[in-house]
Amino acid sequence: MPTPERASLAQVYAQVTTRLENAGVPTPGPDADALIAHVMHKTPAEVRTARARGDYLSGAHLDEVEDVVKRRVAREPLQHICGRAPFRTHELRVGPGVFVPRPETEVVAGAAIEAIRAREHSGEVPYAIDLCAGSGAIALALVRETQARVWAVERDVYALEYLRRNVADLTETERSRITVTAGDARTALDSLNGQCDVVVSNPPYIPPGATPLEPEVAHHDPQVALYGLGPDGLEIPRGVARAAARLLSPGGIFVMEHGQEQGEATRALVGDIDAFVSAVTHQDLAGRDRYLVAHTQSG
Ligand SMILES: C[S@@+](CC[C@H](N)C(=O)[O-])C[C@H]1O[C@@H](n2cnc3c(N)ncnc32)[C@H](O)[C@@H]1O
Repeated sequence: MPTPERASLAQVYAQVTTRLENAGVPTPGPDADALIAHVMHKTPAEVRTARARGDYLSGAHLDEVEDVVKRRVAREPLQHICGRAPFRTHELRVGPGVFVPRPETEVVAGAAIEAIRAREHSGEVPYAIDLCAGSGAIALALVRETQARVWAVERDVYALEYLRRNVADLTETERSRITVTAGDARTALDSLNGQCDVVVSNPPYIPPGATPLEPEVAHHDPQVALYGLGPDGLEIPRGVARAAARLLSPGGIFVMEHGQEQGEATRALVGDIDAFVSAVTHQDLAGRDRYLVAHTQSG
């Protein structure tokens, strides 16, 4: 059937929402707004206003909406289609090959930011490291929301590409405070041993065999970003905790995200590392165990 010359935004929104709902998309209304906004190069709020005003979409835009809706109906992540993911105060470039930053990680980044801010009063520039940086969600939040000198470590070539592009989007001053390091989080940055104030990480932590239910995660997040290896999925987190113990200065702080059922196991793995003197599990906004904060012995 030929594309009509135009259609009302209200009508397009209703049709798209129904199609997304039928495809099992968990948030069909907001996704419909976001897809239409993406095509119109507007914000979702602007699209909602235009819809309420009774505006129309042109035939060319209708063809583009059809293309992006087909992709979302096939459960491609909304963030891959739009090429952007919001995270705290900024937006990141994301797409196929890189882990899409999650809202629960915003709280984890917040804990690291709080720890850095507490150090800023000392007059010295705090050193902070994001291990397993992905697109740079946490590392960039540290740069933008604190005065810290930040290192971002990532080993996957596809993720590194997005990380570097996101760093390139920072202002020149912000860029001067961040270093991207390609390598294994467990062994990287030897030259900073014992010098860092805060180490933060959202490592892969899913146990083997625990296949994520959402098609967006199962088919589009890279395996290397999901599975933490070992029988409990904690081999990489264990290596990351050991790296944090090596990198942190006395009285340093380690913040690490984990799965909602891994609170006790991550406290235990940190408890096995001599340098750490405390480990406390914290919850995300939904009240689920989500991250651990550990301190190294004060000097
Ligand atoms: C769960 S994702 C988190 C990405 C990002 N920190 C975020 O919160 O959006 C984990 C990331 O760790 C990376 N990764 C996995 N194993 C690694 C390793 N041994 N060293 C460095 N990065 C690793 C993956 O490529 C992926 O980008």
